Amino acid sequence: MTLPTPADSHTRLCSPADEVETPAVLVDLDVMDENMARYAAFADEHDVRLRSHAKTHKTPDLAHYQHRHSDGGGIVCQTLGEVEVMAQNGIDDVYLTYMVVGDRKLDRLTWLAGKLDSFATTVDGPGNVRPLQAAAERRGVTVDAVLELDTGMGRVGAAYEDAVDRAQLVDRQPNLRFAGIMAYEGMIFGEDDVRTPAEYEARCFEVMDEVEAAVERIEAAGIAVEEVRVGSTATSLYSGKHPVVTEINPGMYLFNDHNLVRNSPDVSPGNCALTVASTVISAPTADRVVVDAGSKSICPDIDLPPMAVGHEGVDYVNASEEHGWVDVSGSDATFEVGDRIEWIPPHVCTTVNLHDTLVGTRDGYVEEVWDVQARGKVR
Ligand SMILES: Cc1ncc(COP(=O)(O)O)c(C=O)c1O
Repeated sequence: MTLPTPADSHTRLCSPADEVETPAVLVDLDVMDENMARYAAFADEHDVRLRSHAKTHKTPDLAHYQHRHSDGGGIVCQTLGEVEVMAQNGIDDVYLTYMVVGDRKLDRLTWLAGKLDSFATTVDGPGNVRPLQAAAERRGVTVDAVLELDTGMGRVGAAYEDAVDRAQLVDRQPNLRFAGIMAYEGMIFGEDDVRTPAEYEARCFEVMDEVEAAVERIEAAGIAVEEVRVGSTATSLYSGKHPVVTEINPGMYLFNDHNLVRNSPDVSPGNCALTVASTVISAPTADRVVVDAGSKSICPDIDLPPMAVGHEGVDYVNASEEHGWVDVSGSDATFEVGDRIEWIPPHVCTTVNLHDTLVGTRDGYVEEVWDVQARGKVR
């Protein structure tokens, strides 16, 4: 027997936000609009393209919303699966900031490259350049390949001293088009001695000067560098002022999170558009309540607790999968079973990836219900 239940009933547009079943991800659309407008205005002022990183929201509807309301510069994805979901939903200008490896995956990639209006992928050395060339040849397409440089993060990317060799390697491949440089300087976010706007600017410029020197060497070798793509949420507003940069790729700026509140001079709790709404399910002692948002609703991958919205002295102290332990001993408020508490997550990208739906609210009512269609698309 199959049993229809009310369980799948969808959050309804125009219903009060405080009636949305919890745990739920709420997005304050006014705050998100301000965040979008701020980066779009920055991009305008400094003559760089804003191409947002969709790994944060994994939601085609939201990519369309962004394009309608602020930037129209295409999107960035971090996985091929994300690109596929975006393409299936009408996004036709995508930059993939990731090295794709393996014949089967490369065949998916070249298929997309042949279909999308604009597509570029990322390489950093022979191990990923040569298979990409072979796959592009198999498909009979030319693929835009961006060379990633390691800005000192020590993750992926060619070392500065190899930049010319690697650019030449890409440039020599008959089915690849050298499509510029990507230089992600995300490690600056959270560096102990980088706190103030002046420190962010000095550090971002220090890195961008090195990127510029590498770009000049590549150009001196006869290869035009049309694009230099950089930037995270915390660094884009500084790196984007450097003349070498043509495009910024922030992702979290739409929503922000506790880590940004802690480590970026440009983010305060009032800039955090995304919260996880929870309900008190138990009040076992005077100083402890338990909410229905545990580690399967608020991702604990960063060593910071979720931050209660609008409550001093309400501390999220521990999580199991469906339980969030909350110490309320520091608060004047009393909480009862059924009360709601909203949390700014420590890390917004991994938290969104746990949920099927984002609920956009304005003035206390549900205005958008978006499916996080690319959640879990890690391949
Ligand atoms: C290559 C690359 N570009 C841009 C971003 C966006 O940075 P953020 O999420 O801080 O906005 C990331 C984030 O991981 C990234 O890996």
